[in-house]
Amino acid sequence: MKFCVLMKQAAIIPHKTILITGASSGIGAALAQHYAQTHTHLILWGRSQKRLSQVAQSVEKKGATAECHSIDLTNIDEALTALRNQDSLTPITHFIFAAGLGDMRKEGELAEEPSLVTELCLVNFTTPATLATEMANRMATRGGGAIAFIGSVAAFHDLPMSTAYSGSKAGLARFSTALHAAMSPHKVYVTLISPGYVDTPMSQRLSGKLPFLISPQKAAQKIHRAISRRKAHLIFPWPFAFFAFLEGHLPRPVVHRILRLSTMQQTPRKTECSDT
Ligand SMILES: NC(=O)c1ccc[n+]([C@@H]2O[C@H](COP(=O)([O-])OP(=O)(O)OC[C@H]3O[C@@H](n4cnc5c(N)ncnc54)[C@H](OP(=O)(O)O)[C@@H]3O)[C@@H](O)[C@H]2O)c1
Repeated sequence: MKFCVLMKQAAIIPHKTILITGASSGIGAALAQHYAQTHTHLILWGRSQKRLSQVAQSVEKKGATAECHSIDLTNIDEALTALRNQDSLTPITHFIFAAGLGDMRKEGELAEEPSLVTELCLVNFTTPATLATEMANRMATRGGGAIAFIGSVAAFHDLPMSTAYSGSKAGLARFSTALHAAMSPHKVYVTLISPGYVDTPMSQRLSGKLPFLISPQKAAQKIHRAISRRKAHLIFPWPFAFFAFLEGHLPRPVVHRILRLSTMQQTPRKTECSDT
């Protein structure tokens, strides 16, 4: 774990201690802003130290306390050790997994690059599932807590250009609802959030029209509400719930023919995190 910056520590005991992964950008940063208020301690994880510090400073202006840590989720062992140390120091009441990677097969490629598939599966599924299991045990032992995963509606579609993305999000979706079933009796409430398009750096790399695009602030409001209501699953905006239902009920060859018509492309992301 690379220690980024420890912001001013809570002089008062916080009512909520919220760990957010992917807090350096997009939905994760909007969630940090949304949850920021007095008596709330925010633990912000991401890779970009510079952007994490900016988010930490702005949430402190709203009365929250914050600390941020630069942690790469492709390194499961490091992330798990960091979580154990963090939770022993400041017991976490809410754990929100917002970090994620989205990538598409480039034009001309037959299938996605194997190393990219490994990276996406680690960041989108394997590491979140590992950390959530550790956290669920700890929360259940001390009487309860909340865990939320930011999945994607891509989990419910066979996306030919994004097999690793849709596959990793599908794994996450099933893991999340199964964990909800396992942990609710122990007062650990697990919520799966499946957004459509949200206006963030991830979706800004996509070409073409993004139907029902919503702001990260609006997304954060909806996510907060679903977590407070202990919902097992929320899909938004609602038309995507209908599309998921439709895909589940149409013959697969028909669905695949339609999905292959998509001309959507994505500009390549920087492979390493840049502090810009
Ligand atoms: N935007 C959409 O339209 C949309 C739709 C459906 C679902 N989602 C999901 O929503 C979540 C948030 O996405 P977003 O739109 O907010 O994207 P974003 O703005 O690109 O943010 C992605 C976040 O994930 C972090 N991250 C990426 N790789 C990481 C790694 N190896 N280790 C640690 N952190 C890593 C990034 O940290 P650094 O920047 O510091 O590297 C960043 O904070 C993702 O799970 C995404 O799949 C997004």
